[in-house]
Amino acid sequence: MICLGVETSCDETALALTSDGVLIGEKLASQEDLHALFGGVVPELASREHLRKCSALFSALLKETGVPAGSIGAVAVARGPGLLGSLLVGMNLAKGLALGLGAGLVGVNHLHAHLMAVGLEREVPFPSVGLLISGGHTHLYLIRSPFEFELLGRTLDDAAGEALDKAAKLVNLPYPGGKYIDLLGRGVTPDKALFPRPLTSSPGLDFSFSGLKTSVARHVAANASLKLAVLPDHALPDVPGLPRYCASVNWAVADTLRIKAGRALAAHPDAKALIVAGGVAANSMIRRELAGLCDRAGVESVFPSPGLCTDNAAMIAFLGEKLVRAGFSHGPDLAAIPRGRLIPLDYSRLNM
Ligand code: KG4
Ligand code: ZN
Repeated sequence: MICLGVETSCDETALALTSDGVLIGEKLASQEDLHALFGGVVPELASREHLRKCSALFSALLKETGVPAGSIGAVAVARGPGLLGSLLVGMNLAKGLALGLGAGLVGVNHLHAHLMAVGLEREVPFPSVGLLISGGHTHLYLIRSPFEFELLGRTLDDAAGEALDKAAKLVNLPYPGGKYIDLLGRGVTPDKALFPRPLTSSPGLDFSFSGLKTSVARHVAANASLKLAVLPDHALPDVPGLPRYCASVNWAVADTLRIKAGRALAAHPDAKALIVAGGVAANSMIRRELAGLCDRAGVESVFPSPGLCTDNAAMIAFLGEKLVRAGFSHGPDLAAIPRGRLIPLDYSRLNM
């Protein structure tokens, strides 16, 4: 079966085709440079850009892969969580195509798709503990199958990516700053006492990163020389103390994630692996800390390659195809779900 994946939940317009679980082509238009002008995603601009790009990307995808539109058997769309206006653009494209092509339609949970994306590269072990770390979410799950996710813990305020992006913005690094924190701090010894690791001394699997943000803001206010006077144009700046600052913030986030993921693994000794996904899973220090945790715990650490960590449509097509094959589908009343609301399990189940 050929499945088209549609992803427009934030600031990437992405389309991909899978066939029997294998990626056969993808197209992605990033809006990063546009939103960088404003220091963060501007929702109204994001939806307009999706609308401007999506039809042309679809034509280019068909041309590049040589797949005739009529052979698409299913259309999978990221239904949330995300920015409502952005989601609606992808949703309407997906519904229109499914109706016009006589293909099945299925709405995919963007967070679950991140965690299953690694299935495009290797076999996924079940049950596993899943750690989803992105710009908007920090979730721990017990994953029993591609369709069974039990939420174990979540952030009570800021997400891990948000904390890194804010730490970058405070010193005038470009948006989204997570990758600059990673690059500048690479190979530098962090000051482990500089920033707090919130909620790690109390029990439980929930996260909180707002206290870290406050502590980082105080540190920058007291050390104004860390701030870049001119925004670097994708070049790495050379400011004394900045690499240590980046390594120290990165370590506070990485170690918090390590502690909570360790607790989740200890509470679920039947888990065969820790699957780490989402944009922040591209971070080199976080990957190293979590891989070390898994080695010590005797479970496998599973990371998608960095290109599959950030938002993409291959993961939507991949999980969507699995859902359709298992008989799950949605009708034309499929709703987009904004960030902060639960995604309902409202599939129709055919042939079961
Ligand atoms: O999953 P994603 O592409 O979009 C959301 O669904 O949010 O994640 C975006 C987040 C941003 O916060 C970005 O700064 C972060 O992923 N990110 C990184 C790295 N690459 C992307 N954070 C730390 N290190 C990286 N190498
Ligand atoms: Zn994402």
